[in-house]
Amino acid sequence: MRTLAVVGCSQVVTLRGPARPRVGGELRELGIIDNGGILVGEGRIAKVGVREEIERAIEPDTEVIDGGGRILLPGFVDAHTHAVFAGNRVDDFALRAGGASYGQIAASGGGIRSTAGKTRAASEEELFEAASRYREWFVRSGTTTVEAKSGYGLTLEDEMKMLRVIRRLGYVPTFLGAHEVPDEFRGRRGEYVRSVVNEMLPRVASERLAEYCDVFSEPSVFPIEDARTILRAARRLGLGLRIHADQLEGSGGAGLAAELRAATADHLEHTEPGVFAALREAGVQPVLLPASVYTLGSHRFADARAMIEAGLAVVLATDFNPGSAPTPSIPMVLSIACTQMKMHPSEAISAVTVNASWSLGRGQEAGTLEEGKVADFVLHDCSDYRELAYFFGVEHAHAVFAGGKLVFQRC
Ligand code: NIG
Ligand code: FE
Repeated sequence: MRTLAVVGCSQVVTLRGPARPRVGGELRELGIIDNGGILVGEGRIAKVGVREEIERAIEPDTEVIDGGGRILLPGFVDAHTHAVFAGNRVDDFALRAGGASYGQIAASGGGIRSTAGKTRAASEEELFEAASRYREWFVRSGTTTVEAKSGYGLTLEDEMKMLRVIRRLGYVPTFLGAHEVPDEFRGRRGEYVRSVVNEMLPRVASERLAEYCDVFSEPSVFPIEDARTILRAARRLGLGLRIHADQLEGSGGAGLAAELRAATADHLEHTEPGVFAALREAGVQPVLLPASVYTLGSHRFADARAMIEAGLAVVLATDFNPGSAPTPSIPMVLSIACTQMKMHPSEAISAVTVNASWSLGRGQEAGTLEEGKVADFVLHDCSDYRELAYFFGVEHAHAVFAGGKLVFQRC
């Protein structure tokens, strides 16, 4: 068996620890090994330890890479994206710069519906090509696991087209047919909800095109009762549940996530802290998306500190999408989380690795550097992990490995 070793890393940030998402003070425990390395065989992690330990395990045919005093981390896990879409929304962006709001733009035919028009018009191949460009962006910033939602098709055929592209890209697939009411159903939301429940969900489930179902639960889009109907139907079909909750208004989305014991409740910018205990009891992980708050020019970030105090297993993700978060960069999210949400860099790192992987049902495989796990890891060009959040506007990833194979190397 030909093995690969990386040695000479200033810090190996292992995130080793209990086999579950981390809460409270655990979020700061990164299991750092100074002057360490890693040994990989058959795409899995064979050993993580100090330099001498790894060097002792090296065999004559082991390929040895010098870490050059850089830091080694698990590949980032991005647990909330809308990374498959046609066109972009640079026009909306310019309008917002001139003072228009996300809601105003959506109401006047921009927003999600305009991306849906372009996505419907694109062939599966065109969509795959556009999304492949963004996949490269993820990899270049050190992300090796990506969740992606449908939601710009809004017809059975176009949603399935998106989900097939998501599968080809190797992402964790989430069905988001209830992302917006499409133009042809304007004023007939109830009928669209019935089509999601009776036509789309059964086909998506029977063709195994999604692991999760999500709903954009918002009074002006899909109110709570619709979200409940759709998510219950998804659960009956064996899908896991995720919810866009309380993003633009506090409307009980997080409470619904707790009621349904969803895997995650995402956004939560307007959630009352009174709901946090119910989320904890129900085992729901909050997925916080500060890049969308930043992009929309709002100052209302989710209350990460109160969530951590309440014992919630917080996740951070990009929300990469053409409207409210046009960034695939986890380092950018780390920066915003530390500066605006007052998360400690260590907490933010746990939120984009170990906690994110558990929120996607991948906790046994990804998110930490521990023996037996898939060898997804990244050498970043820093000597202290806190620099990942501190130097912003810079991509630090120097070499990215997925399943033990080099998939990106900075020249
Ligand atoms: O998470 N809120 C709904 N979905 C996205 C925005 C998608 C879009 O604007 O295209 C979000 O922010
Ligand atoms: Fe989103």
